[in-house]
Amino acid sequence: MKKIVVLISGRGSNLRAVVEARIAQAEIVAVISNQANAQGLQWAAEQGLTTHVIEHSKFIDREEFDHTLIRLIDGYQPDLVLLAGFMRILSSEFCLHYAGKLINIHPSLLPSFPGLHTHERALESGCRLAGCTIHFVTPKLDGGPIIAQGAVPIFDHDTVETLAQRVLKIEHQLLPQVVNDFVSDRLEIKGNRVIRHSDATQDEEANLLN
Ligand code: GRF
Repeated sequence: MKKIVVLISGRGSNLRAVVEARIAQAEIVAVISNQANAQGLQWAAEQGLTTHVIEHSKFIDREEFDHTLIRLIDGYQPDLVLLAGFMRILSSEFCLHYAGKLINIHPSLLPSFPGLHTHERALESGCRLAGCTIHFVTPKLDGGPIIAQGAVPIFDHDTVETLAQRVLKIEHQLLPQVVNDFVSDRLEIKGNRVIRHSDATQDEEANLLN
């Protein structure tokens, strides 16, 4: 069983998608929010998950906050730390501390539109595709090795809300798949690329079909 700590700041719909996927080999050992009123936190508590709040506003600086967060997370000895809508930039120290086991979901097709307001920027740019990216986290903001991406069309009549909804749907499909791949040890980081190894049983099945 692989232990997962999930960090959220708000609604928590991606957390919910992961929990509801009931991934074998994955145990969510804690859900941590930097916002006391995060909707997702209440939902997690209702599911019987362990929850914590560490409010960033109560700390003098980012380092202090990150150190406290690290201490709390490390108490669980997780195999994976999942940023599922965690709206705080984490220090380089934090990112390096969890190198190779820190995963983020971002609502754009990176490397386009890192940072905030991704849907507004996608609409303004006139591009025809939007989507989400799930990636390993490095100190470069939204810049780590990409694990998976899902694309959706942008329609002429789209608003930020309709586009966000379409992207979110694909986030909910993709994130549980990536968590499943991670806990099944299928992901290998090679430089800036992530190789997905299919498991031996699947390979054998595929060979039989050929
Ligand atoms: C998602 O769009 C995710 O990509 C971004 O923040 C949003 C979180 O949504 N990082 P939710 O809290 O999971 O509903």
